[in-house]
Amino acid sequence: MAEGGDGRGSEDRNLEEPILVPAKRVDTGAVAPDPSAGDVVAGYALLELLGKGGAGSVFKARREADGEIVALKVLAASKVKRARIVQRFFDEVRAASSVDHPGLIRVFDFIEEEHPRRLAYVMEYVQGEALRARIKREGALDLRTSIQIAIQICDALTSLHEHGIIHRDLKPENILIIDVPGRAEPRVKLLDFGVVKFLPVDRTQPSRTDEEKPGTFVGTPRYMAPEQAAGATVDMRADLFSIGVMLFEMITGRCPHEGDSLRDVVLAKLKGAPRITMNPEKEILPQELTEIVDACLQLKPALRPERAFRVANALREADMVLFAVGPIRAGQARAEAERAEKARVEASRAASLRAQPPTPPPAVRPREPVDTADTPPLGVSEPPALAPAAASGPSNRLVWLLVAVCVLAALALVAVWQIRKSQAAPVFMLNPEKSRAAPKGEVEPTNTSTTP
Ligand SMILES: Nc1ncnc2c1ncn2[C@@H]1O[C@H](COP(=O)(O)OP(=O)(O)O)[C@@H](O)[C@H]1O
Ligand SMILES: [Mg+2]
Repeated sequence: MAEGGDGRGSEDRNLEEPILVPAKRVDTGAVAPDPSAGDVVAGYALLELLGKGGAGSVFKARREADGEIVALKVLAASKVKRARIVQRFFDEVRAASSVDHPGLIRVFDFIEEEHPRRLAYVMEYVQGEALRARIKREGALDLRTSIQIAIQICDALTSLHEHGIIHRDLKPENILIIDVPGRAEPRVKLLDFGVVKFLPVDRTQPSRTDEEKPGTFVGTPRYMAPEQAAGATVDMRADLFSIGVMLFEMITGRCPHEGDSLRDVVLAKLKGAPRITMNPEKEILPQELTEIVDACLQLKPALRPERAFRVANALREADMVLFAVGPIRAGQARAEAERAEKARVEASRAASLRAQPPTPPPAVRPREPVDTADTPPLGVSEPPALAPAAASGPSNRLVWLLVAVCVLAALALVAVWQIRKSQAAPVFMLNPEKSRAAPKGEVEPTNTSTTP
């Protein structure tokens, strides 16, 4: 595993801090102490500290000459004698001032003071909030806001890349978010060009900024591409990996590669990023979005998109889907779930009809509550499930009914026969007198012939 070249072990490294390569000390005389709010530096009154990092401090400042509010980044006194870091500071200013894009911070001036020595530069002041602070406050961001922020980062990055500059330290701390009254989507400013790499104009030449020594790297572990962490040559696709990490983080509120140490994070990266397919709290993610995040987070640069504008295009498509057909897609998903449930109910019903008594198949057993209770209204009512006893009932009942009818009929016949038998005499005895006189059972057939 590659390790940063600043001498610290991997375990005690802050994963949000950039790692700077080793620097040689240069003796250039006295160094000015680090300034604080209230001091004046080269005609700029420092109003408040905006941020402090490994390389220096950023102040909100007022230019005394005209009262203009600006931001001033001052190189830390402890770094002023480190040649490599000083070179990076020059590169930072050069990169920021050579590309003009609304998504990139604008640099106005460079300050180099001697006796005592101090290095600083002046840039536009942005009244915004670092993306880091926003994620910390809100967790996962609104989906369309996340996409729009990423589109703007990609647009700024496209411009930077076209000038042959790779940022190499894209992370939420280096993105400022500006809420514009009356506009739904915020504006974005990309800053901190502290570890940029200049690609050679002639690709056969080595890059203008030296490649890192083998076994060293610059960047911020959580956001840097695996090849950057390995100290290998990086190109624009390293920045696209960082975009993938930030998109993942904005959408889900967590990093794709979890881990508390540099080692864990790198190992997690080598395993690959977990896919984001669905944000259960919010909308269903458009496929265009999940695909581009997956593509950016590919371990091998060759499998990532080649250019930032391709990522921006995919994100614009995803944004259009969300804007235009997002709710429909969500509705479609629900309709599909309903169709699947209906098909399942039909299959279960068919299975119950095929079932032979007395042992009905499991399909006709009473259903689990989850199958129906959570199902949204389908417009199709499911027939009540049949209990095993009831399943064989109708035919048995019929048999018993027939038997009962037969028995009753037989009884009725017997009864009729009995009645007729008991009434046989009067029927044939046309003379009631005789009938009464004649002893029971004695019927004189001859009497009949004597009837008048
Ligand atoms: N031009 C600016 N306007 C407003 N805030 C800024 C500006 N530049 C930097 N900041 C704030 O200062 C912090 C540190 O600045 P940065 O250039 O990233 O320094 P570092 O190299 O120490 O990380 C940023 O995260 C941001 O919050
Ligand atoms: Mg920074």
